[in-house]
Amino acid sequence: MSRVAVVTGGTRGIGAAISVALKNAGYRVAANYAGNDEKAKAFHETTGVPVFKWDVSDYAACGEGIAKVESEIGPVEILVNNAGITRDAMFHKMTPQQWHEVINTNLTGLFNMTHQVWTGMRDRSFGRIINISSINGQKGQMGQANYSAAKAGDLGFTKALAQEGAAKNITVNAICPGYIGTEMVLAVPEKVLNERIIPQIPVGRLGEPEEIARCVTFLASDDAGFITGSTLTANGGQFFV
Ligand code: CAA
Repeated sequence: MSRVAVVTGGTRGIGAAISVALKNAGYRVAANYAGNDEKAKAFHETTGVPVFKWDVSDYAACGEGIAKVESEIGPVEILVNNAGITRDAMFHKMTPQQWHEVINTNLTGLFNMTHQVWTGMRDRSFGRIINISSINGQKGQMGQANYSAAKAGDLGFTKALAQEGAAKNITVNAICPGYIGTEMVLAVPEKVLNERIIPQIPVGRLGEPEEIARCVTFLASDDAGFITGSTLTANGGQFFV
């Protein structure tokens, strides 16, 4: 029986590409989403991937969501923590709400989700946790003190948990996408995107969601069993760690 993968934020943007790539690679995929029922329904109809609604910033909801996935599909062996939001503002204009919303989803969401599947992975001596961080967690980004802090936190989480999972054959890795052509990036003011961001990308273009999805299928595979605690950077040469 093929392995079960959960992709948070798996019905739109990078997450949708990840769900489809894992399905095409033979996994049984559950795509989580938080809010947009219409997009989720359309995604399900187009791809056949089952969709499950809960908010990753809510610990209890994550527990219920994972229990539902496990009863309908099977024990989760691969978790892709992809769900993320932006609330961009210069720091002097950033509200506590903008700070907390981003931290709760983009950082605490990793705890809330991973905690639900970790014991099962330990018991079965197999697991793959793949955390979608960001170039902006590596280099920082003006207008994103909240997002950069959360995404940098995701990298610390990845490295700590990799050490705990290693003896149980659970790998924990992060991917840091650069600017990918999704709704999230296209929400950046056009002038900023064209004049400030794209000129900083040596390959001269935004990335494609499928280019990140291929990184995920590799890290999920048996071939990647010796890779843990690592950060795979895919940013068109914009930033070297
Ligand atoms: N790089 C360099 N300069 C920037 C910049 C950037 N990314 N963003 C803004 N600036 C500059 C502006 O050009 C402007 O300079 P001038 O006054 O000389 O024109 C100055 O900073 C102030 O900017 P705004 O007039 O836009 O100020 P604002 O208060 O209206 O908005 C902002 C500020 C919300 C930060 C807005 O500029 C913005 O959204 N910037 C983009 C931030 C960003 O890169 N977000 C990434 C989203 S995608 C993502 O997060 C996915 C991922 O993982 C990569």
